[in-house]
Amino acid sequence: MQNITTTLKKLFYLWRRSQVPVKQSIKISRIDNLIIFLICILISIISSYKLLLISPLNISDIFSWFLTFTEALISSGILILVSKKENPTISSRQIILLITLLLAVQASKLVLASTIRPLSMIIPPALIISQGMGSITSLAWVSIASLIWPDPAIAINNNLFLILLVCASVVSLLGGRIRSRAQLLQLSIFVPIGSFLSQWILIGKDKMPLIDKQEIVFANGDIFSDSLLLAIVMLFTILFIPIFESIFGLLTKARLLELADKEKPLIRRLSLEAPGTFEHTLLICGLAEEATRMVSGDIDLVKTGALYHDVGKLHAPNWFIENQDGSKNPHDEIDDPIKSAEVLQAHVDEGLKYARKNRLPKLIANFIPEHQGTLKMGYFFQKAKEKKLDINENYFRYKGPIPQSKETAILMLADGCEAALRAMNINASDNEALDTISKIIYSRQKDGQLDDSNLSKGEIFLIKRAFLNVWKRIRHRRIQYPTTKNNTFS
Ligand SMILES: [Fe+2]
Ligand SMILES: [Fe+2]
Repeated sequence: MQNITTTLKKLFYLWRRSQVPVKQSIKISRIDNLIIFLICILISIISSYKLLLISPLNISDIFSWFLTFTEALISSGILILVSKKENPTISSRQIILLITLLLAVQASKLVLASTIRPLSMIIPPALIISQGMGSITSLAWVSIASLIWPDPAIAINNNLFLILLVCASVVSLLGGRIRSRAQLLQLSIFVPIGSFLSQWILIGKDKMPLIDKQEIVFANGDIFSDSLLLAIVMLFTILFIPIFESIFGLLTKARLLELADKEKPLIRRLSLEAPGTFEHTLLICGLAEEATRMVSGDIDLVKTGALYHDVGKLHAPNWFIENQDGSKNPHDEIDDPIKSAEVLQAHVDEGLKYARKNRLPKLIANFIPEHQGTLKMGYFFQKAKEKKLDINENYFRYKGPIPQSKETAILMLADGCEAALRAMNINASDNEALDTISKIIYSRQKDGQLDDSNLSKGEIFLIKRAFLNVWKRIRHRRIQYPTTKNNTFS
């Protein structure tokens, strides 16, 4: 009994550890690399060993086994590369999930080929992958899972293969875009209906029975059972997606939108305890959203990340200018630039603690340190210089890391421009606003803050234009309309 309690405690501890947001993208460790390589080898063995069971075995059989083995190994490698390309911050856990699903499908093709047809084996994992890792990774996974068949004795109907590819591609493409659980449910109903109708039309009810009354769910070759099983497995997959999100740190669109709900306790606290920071956050959401749309980035990610980027200010709201009512500034009272710099850095450290406590996904938690990068706290550094304090400049820089993605870089730029744009004169011209934006962005560029973000010069130009558009909106909102006697408010 004690052993079970200890094991449960250990499991709970490991699970809690797995929720800790990490500052930088995870470098895949040697052990993880070894596990990934071993799974790839297993996939290759499962996909090819049947070719060695032919008797008598001749050289051409061994050669075709070797070809199939290498094909499976290289395909797994390409799949990992595609997933890394689409998700630069993909973790080793997610890669392990991706290839384990491939291993499971290859194994089930061997064991269950006579009971279940490929639609129910390939489409549900494609749904998980497209939701958690994107459409391109899912399409790559589907093509590998559909093309490598471990048992050469299994003959697949060409039309069925076509239906499988079309359905799996539709799920991959839509799964990467779907933004709510309700749409997922619709997909899990319409795809089986589509597969049922297309099988009926293309394969024909004469060649295959429409329904088997004895075995409704598991009758292979029966079109109705096939589609019913697909619907059941897809519904179960949707049910289990939140568990996959939690265990493998997957960030689906539905999860992002749930986190962006302003009624979430942490955001509610921000609006009540640090109203100035909350207002600043909302304006930054607008700026970052517009800029991300311009550079075709992940809008839902940047909006949610922006919402949580300054939650660390909850630890001491009145130490930040936007929450001060103008009466007294604690920084002036302590008159110690080093302490002030520590308070500023604390909004990042405490933010990460809040992220951990509230189990924010790593991709969202990354916005907390990366929006400040290694920026200099210029005001307090200047004060320290005035006081002739002998202290290194690095002490007045945030600990970083600098933005590692387009989205966190855009947030950093929006964060820098927000106060300047808000403070701008209502009568300022577009050119003046653009000039202010350009100066702030150039200073970040010159400081090396955008070096790891992959933002091109063209994209930076688009970001400036996007910020200008938002500024025009703000200005428009601030213009007071003349009221007349006959104003009807219509
Ligand atoms: Fe901040
Ligand atoms: Fe901020």
